[in-house]
Amino acid sequence: MVGRKVGIVGSGFVGATAAYSLSLLGTCHEVVLYDIVPEVAKGKAIDIGQSTCYSRHGTIVSAAETPEEMRDCDVVVITAGVPRRGEMTRADLLMINAKIMKEVVCDIKKYSPDAIILVVSNPLDVMTYIALKETGWERHRILGMAGALDGSRMAYQIHQKVGYGSGQTRAIVIGDHGQHMIPYPEISAVGGVPLEQIVDRESMDQIIARTKDGGAEIVKYLGTSAYYAPGRAVSVMVEAILDD
Ligand code: 2OP
Repeated sequence: MVGRKVGIVGSGFVGATAAYSLSLLGTCHEVVLYDIVPEVAKGKAIDIGQSTCYSRHGTIVSAAETPEEMRDCDVVVITAGVPRRGEMTRADLLMINAKIMKEVVCDIKKYSPDAIILVVSNPLDVMTYIALKETGWERHRILGMAGALDGSRMAYQIHQKVGYGSGQTRAIVIGDHGQHMIPYPEISAVGGVPLEQIVDRESMDQIIARTKDGGAEIVKYLGTSAYYAPGRAVSVMVEAILDD
């Protein structure tokens, strides 16, 4: 959508992949990356910017060296903070990331006072609550990225189980982004056919368990958090926000 500006705070794997996804899809006119290490934001902004030559949309990708250089954004995505490693749970990140979150939110309030904030940092639910409290903004302006990602993970698990319906699966997950998330098979469907008509209870339980374990499974293989599916889930949410 032309004329729309998205800021991304934190240019690690998730932030950069979100930026790449946004520019590839032409979701917004401009993406600004910021990172506590300015060289990282700069290098990734240049790299992603150079990829836009082959996209029809010509999204402009730049880096902000200071928080004040990221200003007047319509949406600010917060991915800043340390990711999970090894055996860490999302909750283990709480104290470090809470401090970072407060500082980031303070800058957003100052420089993008009309933005909608999309929180991605973990533990997601607590970080989103901190952003809500620190801004004092109306709650519909502070969103956490959870169900969009967990739903895409559930859709993947459904395909793994049934072997068809890739790209035609609607999988809904509500609630928190952790062990208490609520995969919702009753309103999930493959090609419009309710999931409950396709898989038995045992398979359903396996799909639910693997969905809940989706983030941790990737940490186990990579030694760090996922980023392709989270980055894509960010862009789908940003698109929904910008399209109202
Ligand atoms: C995940 O579940 C990073 O929280 C994100 O992979």
